[in-house]
Amino acid sequence: MEVIICQDEEAVGAYGAAKVAQIARAVGPSVVIGVATGSSPLSTYANLAAMVHDGTLDLSDATAFALDEYVGLPIDHPQSYHATIHRTVTEQLGLDPARVHVPDGSLENLQTAGERYEAAIKAAGGVDVQILGIGANGHVGFNEPTSSLSSRTRMKTLAPRTRADNARYFDSIDDVPIHCVTQGLGTILDARHVVLVATGAQKANAIAAIVEGPVSSMFPGSVLQLHQYATIVVDEPAAELLTMGAYYKHVNDNLPAWQRLDV
Ligand code: GLP
Repeated sequence: MEVIICQDEEAVGAYGAAKVAQIARAVGPSVVIGVATGSSPLSTYANLAAMVHDGTLDLSDATAFALDEYVGLPIDHPQSYHATIHRTVTEQLGLDPARVHVPDGSLENLQTAGERYEAAIKAAGGVDVQILGIGANGHVGFNEPTSSLSSRTRMKTLAPRTRADNARYFDSIDDVPIHCVTQGLGTILDARHVVLVATGAQKANAIAAIVEGPVSSMFPGSVLQLHQYATIVVDEPAAELLTMGAYYKHVNDNLPAWQRLDV
């Protein structure tokens, strides 16, 4: 696990985007990117969008897979993840909407939503780089505490903490859906690279738990300790409960030239 501690949110976005772009350029035009909703990756998307606009990164042939979707929200509801991903990712990064996939959260097709999504990821050749945020309770995607560490895409019930955190996007907490469809932790682990971004003191507990705590379904993001290429990019407030922060900085200050990222 690579831990990068940046000064502020802006620097997190710059580093996260540089890492994703490095992988995307190495893979080539048909790169498959896993994308997340939430406020955490927005600065990463903004930096990627700047690269697309100045011509240093071309994602017009890329494929994208979102992590999750609420159950029962129409896809044109502004807070559906279909709409959110379209607004914050597809339009910003110049992706082809036909190649941007979001799990099907419609009630009618719920039973098969997971296996259909897994099949689509497989058909695309798997995810090359997965961008992740993290919930304050340690969830990734919508894999709430006690999610199976080898889970695949399926319906889940949102934790009360998650519904409360996400109520800011709705008129009232009662409007936040109870269920979701999310990629599983096993699905996320299958991505070839993972780049998790987190900012702010409200994420410090979750970051300390997933980076330095035991691998445990009580903090689902801790499953990334099992991933060969996971990069955790955090700002100082989100890093404040890490006990080995000085070591992570020392590691990065002393990287050999060939491992350094040009940010
Ligand atoms: C939602 C999403 C997650 C995201 C989390 C954190 O629950 N399903 O993918 O990581 O929110 O959101 P934020 O980045 O806004 O704190």
